Amino acid sequence: MDKDGIIALLNQDLEGEHGAIIQYLTHAYAMGEGEIACEIEPLARDEMRHLDWLAEAIIELGGVPSLERGKMRMGGESVADWMRNDVLLEEDGINLYREHIKIIDNPKIKRLLQRILSDEESHHGDFEHFVNKAQKEGAKDVRGSRTDKVVQTLNWGIEHEYTVILQYMFQSYKTTNPEAKKQMEDQAVNEMQHLGWLAEKIIDINGDPRIEHTEVDRSTRTADMLRADIKIEQEVAAAYDRAASETEDPDLKQLLLRIRDHEIYHTAIFNDLLKEEE
Ligand SMILES: [Fe+2]
Ligand SMILES: [Fe+2]
Ligand SMILES: [Fe+2]
Repeated sequence: MDKDGIIALLNQDLEGEHGAIIQYLTHAYAMGEGEIACEIEPLARDEMRHLDWLAEAIIELGGVPSLERGKMRMGGESVADWMRNDVLLEEDGINLYREHIKIIDNPKIKRLLQRILSDEESHHGDFEHFVNKAQKEGAKDVRGSRTDKVVQTLNWGIEHEYTVILQYMFQSYKTTNPEAKKQMEDQAVNEMQHLGWLAEKIIDINGDPRIEHTEVDRSTRTADMLRADIKIEQEVAAAYDRAASETEDPDLKQLLLRIRDHEIYHTAIFNDLLKEEE
């Protein structure tokens, strides 16, 4: 199999990981603080690591990591149904990895996919266990139906955070500047925290967190990437600031200001990197 063929298969795997991350996080947030939710989060983190390894392997082969999200299995009436969907999603992944391991002849890639497959097999068992646990303990869907301006603002925040997580991760794969790579990875991790805080806050106030993203910058030169990052950070710092001044809820205000301050810090980091690039 030629390089392009392998890259196409790895991108299919990467898209599957992306879908799994969002499906599992959506389920974890929708369950609130429960025990199952806490046990799902490390599984979502495993999938993030898989996505990262696949992207690096694609770059090493001279390819471009896909930004598409693979098929998700959403829906279901109860937490047990969601966990069944997660079992099925793991089965989709396991079947795909087995097939790719069979047809890819590059030993290094084969080894990587075997490594990932062993995690998916373990996750499959974990989710089967969560189906039983959800049935026994009656784990609940804690999402509410509140859709006022506060919830809309928080969901706007999630949309922004998800967008920049993707943007900084994919830029970090493409940039040839090692310091920029490190900073993009670090800031992406910080944006993941923001996404989690916003989702938890929405659950707290009886809303429904929606994990969708908008257009991701696709620059190929590091200086252009950084310019796009600075622009988006400045815009959102201002938006979080505005949202903080509009709310009467002291906890929400504090949360929004904390995120705003992080975004101001991100702008400064990216500005320093840009100065060195120019
Ligand atoms: Fe995975
Ligand atoms: Fe953020
Ligand atoms: Fe930021």
